[in-house]
Amino acid sequence: MTTMYPAVSRRAFLSMSLQSAAAGVLSALLSPLRRAFAGTAAQPRFFRRVVAQDNRSSATIEWQSEAALPDPRFFWHASDGKQEKRADVDLQYFTIDGRPVFVYRTALSGLPQGKRIECRVDAAGRTVGTFSFHTDDGKSCKALIFPDSQCEGNYDTWGRVCGEASARCPDAALWINMGDLVDNGASAYHWEEWQAATDAALGARAFAPVMGNHECYSLDWECTLPQAFLALFAPPENGSPEYGRYYYSFDYGPVHFTVLNTQRKELDALAPGLFSEQAAWLVRDLAATKKPWRVALLHRDLIDYDAEPIERDPFVETLVPVLEAGGVDAVLSAHVHAYRRRSLRAGQKAKNGLPYILTGNAGNCFYDVEQNEIDEIAFPDNFLNYLTMEANETKLAFRCFLPNGILKDFVTLRKH
Ligand SMILES: [Fe+2]
Ligand SMILES: [Fe+2]
Repeated sequence: MTTMYPAVSRRAFLSMSLQSAAAGVLSALLSPLRRAFAGTAAQPRFFRRVVAQDNRSSATIEWQSEAALPDPRFFWHASDGKQEKRADVDLQYFTIDGRPVFVYRTALSGLPQGKRIECRVDAAGRTVGTFSFHTDDGKSCKALIFPDSQCEGNYDTWGRVCGEASARCPDAALWINMGDLVDNGASAYHWEEWQAATDAALGARAFAPVMGNHECYSLDWECTLPQAFLALFAPPENGSPEYGRYYYSFDYGPVHFTVLNTQRKELDALAPGLFSEQAAWLVRDLAATKKPWRVALLHRDLIDYDAEPIERDPFVETLVPVLEAGGVDAVLSAHVHAYRRRSLRAGQKAKNGLPYILTGNAGNCFYDVEQNEIDEIAFPDNFLNYLTMEANETKLAFRCFLPNGILKDFVTLRKH
């Protein structure tokens, strides 16, 4: 969706706040956005498949509307099967920035491995949407991996990066966003822009969202619980009664992905106990997997570039030893909007260390980022990129591409 109204970025907001302390300024700027959305026709849209724990036999299908659908029903069948089955539909109603959002969700289980699944959504006896996807074959995996997609203004840059990546990789079954999907996680405008820019490119790929710090900001840029992010996407449960969807893990092909929450600065006070329970869960999660490859996905990087002077993030002392002891093969991070690749053990440069990949930038916010002593590969700050990950039982390969498909960096791991 496009709009004639400007988005208010954190940068613009801070500058505006300095110029005027008037409390009504933000409200005056944002209220036209609400009016712009008010007349949108309600219909099912943004059909998506969010990763399940085991994507060979399970899937979570979600879609949205701006008004309640009458008597929604979900049906599915395997493309080579005849019997159509019905699955329950759950509705979650909430508001973002005052705007109503109805998220419908169906958790499918008992799916056949490596098969095409055809789905249909009816409302009041009429078909209002169709969706088809392939279940994981359990043997191989190709993923598209996107660094921060947050944009100031509109999301044209993100739409171009993910659109070109998607067109070049029709065989990628998995799609990972490394966090900071949007610039402001409480803004209806930002989510609307992001979803409109993402929808067609994402298609039926399994979607794995990593929570970033920008998902944890209110409209006035205070730290807040990431309510919109949590309500929009339902990745697998983690067993926590309080902090489900804050961190999770899933399997795709031969890879076990562990998705960690690194928003300690934003959430430590708002979500007491989150980080201690995640630390205990991480040990259990890595001990339980039998997959040959293990990849950790973290939004924040090992280096805290916001600190003065620049320093290691405290999680280098807490999470990194657990990741390495738990047999993790690669660690991916984001947040800095720059591409760096390191080879590390215990936070130190090592010749045969693990690849730690700071994944780059897929949005229109660019920062000045100093090179660090641990960097093996560093690209310029005005760099836009995406990554692919390809895995089979014996090989795990990460490649970094420009949006136009030019290969800029790669690393390949092998196991026998
Ligand atoms: Fe971030
Ligand atoms: Fe970011």
